[in-house]
Amino acid sequence: MSSPDPLSPRLPSPLHEVRDGRFERRGLRLLLKRDDLIHPQLIGNKWRKLVPNIAAAEGRALVTFGGAYSNHLRATAAAGRLLGLPTTGVVRGQELADRPLNPSLARCAADGMRLHFVDRSTYRRKTDPETLAGILRAAGAQDAYVVPEGGSNAEAVRGCRALGTELRGLADVVAVACGTGGTLAGLAAGLSAGQRALGVPVLKGGFLEADVEALQERAFGARSGTWSLDDRFHCGGYARTTPELEAFAQDFEQLHGLPVERLYVAKLLFGLVALAEGNAFARGTAIAAVVTGRPFPEPAAAAPER
Ligand SMILES: Cc1ncc(COP(=O)(O)O)c(C=O)c1O
Repeated sequence: MSSPDPLSPRLPSPLHEVRDGRFERRGLRLLLKRDDLIHPQLIGNKWRKLVPNIAAAEGRALVTFGGAYSNHLRATAAAGRLLGLPTTGVVRGQELADRPLNPSLARCAADGMRLHFVDRSTYRRKTDPETLAGILRAAGAQDAYVVPEGGSNAEAVRGCRALGTELRGLADVVAVACGTGGTLAGLAAGLSAGQRALGVPVLKGGFLEADVEALQERAFGARSGTWSLDDRFHCGGYARTTPELEAFAQDFEQLHGLPVERLYVAKLLFGLVALAEGNAFARGTAIAAVVTGRPFPEPAAAAPER
């Protein structure tokens, strides 16, 4: 390539071991896989998922979907700005159209993303071909390349496979927080025999096993790797929190100097500590927790170390 790549990533992402008595007392090792350091704006699994989709779009505009605080919308908008690609974000909630933009949507707009708000019932039906065509028409994005909500399609899942290959031989269990399950689907396929992936869903519902399997079938032709889900740590559902979770996240930040993203990463780490304390892992197990995101907005003192 003749010009420097504006998406140039830090890969493989760093892997740090941290000293944490809750693990050490049980003979366990805790490692942090710092995917949050891959790129300052295309953070964590966003880089791994979006870059293969941008390649597949072959220079076309991008259109994608998300809620009012979506990390994926912000990353797509940033990629559009960095690459000079037009982007449209279809946002859940028609009522938001008449309100001032929240900081996350304001960042999307500042990065040049055109925002198109749809009512919640239409948004729920967005994968139905007729509904999708109607949304794209109304958004003026008929010719754009469609990236699904959360960025999880076959290209994205194949992109996340590299997360697993980077960790071969370096941990026994690799744990990741799950929204759509795309990151877990790719990660598990990239690990070697003898390693296993553990997904911690942040949404309530128990539907993810089938979704992850379907994503793997589309990306790789079959269920791949060894993986399982533990549904006990969603703390009430997406974007829900509890005083215990918030106290845990603040304490983890202080102990380890890691800015803890609250929607996903906090629940993953909380789940891992609970599992360790419940003796769910055999002594000697090395556990890698994937840090898939950073808090937004970022605490001023915690700019990414690049
Ligand atoms: C910070 C963070 N971690 C984890 C995930 C979950 O990824 P997936 O949807 O592939 O399960 C997301 C999804 O948006 C995210 O923003």
